[in-house]
Amino acid sequence: MSTATTTTPIAKTTTPGPQRPTDPATPVMRLRGITKDFGEGETLARVLKGIDLEIGRHDFAALMGPSGSGKSTLLNILGLLDRPTSGVLEVNGVDASDFNDAARTKLRGQTLGFIFQFHHLLPAFTALENVLMPIRVVRPLTKADVDWGRQLLVEVGLADKEKRKPGELSGGQQQRVAIARALAPRPALILADEPTGNLDSESSAQAFALMERAHIGYDCAFLIVTHDPRIAARCHRVIDIVDGRIQKDTGER
Ligand SMILES: Nc1ncnc2c1ncn2[C@@H]1O[C@H](COP(=O)(O)OP(=O)(O)OP(=O)(O)O)[C@@H](O)[C@H]1O
Ligand SMILES: [Mg+2]
Repeated sequence: MSTATTTTPIAKTTTPGPQRPTDPATPVMRLRGITKDFGEGETLARVLKGIDLEIGRHDFAALMGPSGSGKSTLLNILGLLDRPTSGVLEVNGVDASDFNDAARTKLRGQTLGFIFQFHHLLPAFTALENVLMPIRVVRPLTKADVDWGRQLLVEVGLADKEKRKPGELSGGQQQRVAIARALAPRPALILADEPTGNLDSESSAQAFALMERAHIGYDCAFLIVTHDPRIAARCHRVIDIVDGRIQKDTGER
């Protein structure tokens, strides 16, 4: 596979993700009554107003809604990057609401991958080093890890760019490195916040096609924040959030 536009599915990995629920019916994430407030006193604002949501193991879902409706806030809570003000959050069937920071960091590293609108690659490191970074921050790299990182770069069509630093890559190529990096820890769920929002239409199509292939090839669920109705139309489930509440969910269970 030499380019990102090929339709060949990514080869199924024989190494299972480190944190998949044993029962396939168990959602990767389950939120109950999640609220999130910002500010205090007169500036207090309730941004999430009671979110009930399950993300299944095989979901490929879009999260849509007007600017300021709470999409990124919700993604940060799902990603264990921020804590809710109230409510219950289960990961792989385990209540993680009261986990301390160290336990949350460990769970995040084992379960979740992230893709942001801006790639957030580390400028001093090569493409391959950036891809391997989520593994490297947890444990020393093995030869198998490096081979895996190279395989991911092949699959995002950047086999010949592994030694390039982010500044030597185009915006679309940088985002494909960021997709490979999100896949590196073999996450059960990738949370993507407007992953194609900063790309031209061709790079956007390439990046989205990669996510579709990774969903199938790596048994990885996706939740993709997008303002693009064409992207939402290709997702299996569309969740609409308006003013901190889920207004519509085509995949509600
Ligand atoms: N750290 C913060 N402190 C105070 N208010 C915040 C904070 N983060 C977000 N907000 C507020 O919460 C609301 C929801 O913000 P959020 O970033 O979740 O919106 P969004 O749906 O992702 O919007 P966009 O489509 O523009 O990215 C906004 O009114 C925002 O100003
Ligand atoms: Mg946002």
